[in-house]
Amino acid sequence: MAGGELFHRGHGTQTLPLLRSSHTRYLSLYLTKLTNPIRYVLREQRILFFFIGISISTLILNSFPSFPPSHHQIPPLLLRSDSTHSTHPVSYYHHAAGGKVLLGLKRKALRIVVTGGAGFVGSHLVDRLIARGDSVIVVDNFFTGRKENLMHHFGNPRFELIRHDVVEPILLEVDQIYHLACPASPVHYKFNPVKTIISFLKTHRFATVNKTNVVGTLNMLGLAKRVGARFLLTSTSEVYGDPLQHPQVETYWGNVNPIGVRSCYDEGKRTAETLTMDYHRGAGIEVRIARIFNTYGPRMCIDDGRVVSNFVAQALRKEPLTVYGDGKQTRSFQYVSDLVEGLIRLMEGEHVGPFNLGNPGEFTMLELAQVVQETIDPNAKIEFRPNTEDDPHKRKPDISKAKQLLGWEPSVSLRNGLPLMVSDFRQRLSGDRKEVGAIASVVSN
Ligand SMILES: NC(=O)c1ccc[n+]([C@@H]2O[C@H](COP(=O)([O-])OP(=O)(O)OC[C@H]3O[C@@H](n4cnc5c(N)ncnc54)[C@H](O)[C@@H]3O)[C@@H](O)[C@H]2O)c1
Repeated sequence: MAGGELFHRGHGTQTLPLLRSSHTRYLSLYLTKLTNPIRYVLREQRILFFFIGISISTLILNSFPSFPPSHHQIPPLLLRSDSTHSTHPVSYYHHAAGGKVLLGLKRKALRIVVTGGAGFVGSHLVDRLIARGDSVIVVDNFFTGRKENLMHHFGNPRFELIRHDVVEPILLEVDQIYHLACPASPVHYKFNPVKTIISFLKTHRFATVNKTNVVGTLNMLGLAKRVGARFLLTSTSEVYGDPLQHPQVETYWGNVNPIGVRSCYDEGKRTAETLTMDYHRGAGIEVRIARIFNTYGPRMCIDDGRVVSNFVAQALRKEPLTVYGDGKQTRSFQYVSDLVEGLIRLMEGEHVGPFNLGNPGEFTMLELAQVVQETIDPNAKIEFRPNTEDDPHKRKPDISKAKQLLGWEPSVSLRNGLPLMVSDFRQRLSGDRKEVGAIASVVSN
């Protein structure tokens, strides 16, 4: 008890100060020995610490690809190019998956070719690439694409547009190739199905889709090999055909009719995937494969036969919504900004794929028609028509792989995305009406 008091109060017997002073000396000697090397290391090895710091931040970025804020906090349609800067401060979320950018450092601007960049998906991708400071070359033959989709970049020194058909070779010095060029809608690919499998029918009118998929993809892979660029193929959920497995996982090989009216597209994309993997294995090209599920948004072709654009255009024109079959077949609909984020993460990441990029929310055609009615016109009528050949009954992506390896998942729901598309369609359709009106008045004068 007394000892306890002495100890706590700090006075009393002589033995304690003696003990304490020897302890203190021992401790300070020990600390000097200990701190000297630390001081030495801190003073002399600052550079080493600097690099260790950088490595730790890089490790954190790699380990938490979804850590950064979602891109959806930036409205996709507000992203515009800034022609005054060739390099931009790093938006760290852009490269989290690739882990190539160090926190706080400026990344080197890349030269990127986007084939099919004047189309629906391509033009949104170009917006994002230009906005982050890269130089973009669009290669497009305007089969389904439109200059209007890219006009806001005209005059930007970091943007170039080349009218070119990818079935012919082209040489460009680039770091990355996003290969999107391909008519993606049934109306267009069924119009010209044989440009589809190989170039022997080069001059034949019915030769477009497979030729584009096979010869076009070969040409772009050849370019990637020649200039050492990374190559990303936009494949499709159509490679699963009318799937016997639901939802579809990347390991599923599909159930495709090789001789049906849709085969030019399905088999063309399957062959494009094969070529991509063969170039990867055989020539060491860095490749990425995305399997895209139904995507919608502003700038889609208005009359392209795809279900979302069909319904929206019909409702705006006060026509009945045409549902094929009983309307119970299901699809998943992904908003375009979600897809673009997935494509960029895939390109910048370390994984070849294939990766499913789609929204797992599943709707029947009738449910979709209802959402369109709610958004545009509650009185819009629904009209049933016989189903088209080989129309898949079910489609829904399993996106676990993309979630896990790319830190990606869609975040725009159909009810939030559809109004953005509707206002774009409304504007374009009223523009069409004005144009028709102007022509009519010129003719009548
Ligand atoms: N939008 C979707 O729902 C969806 C789904 C699955 C896959 N994809 C794939 O994504 C890519 C882009 O699709 P999208 O919806 O933007 O289609 P889109 O038709 O709007 O765009 C395709 C673009 O490629 C161009 N093109 C076509 N053939 C060409 C050729 N031979 N040479 C040069 N340019 C050519 C067109 O002019 C157009 O600009 C396509 O490869 C498509 O197969 C899209």
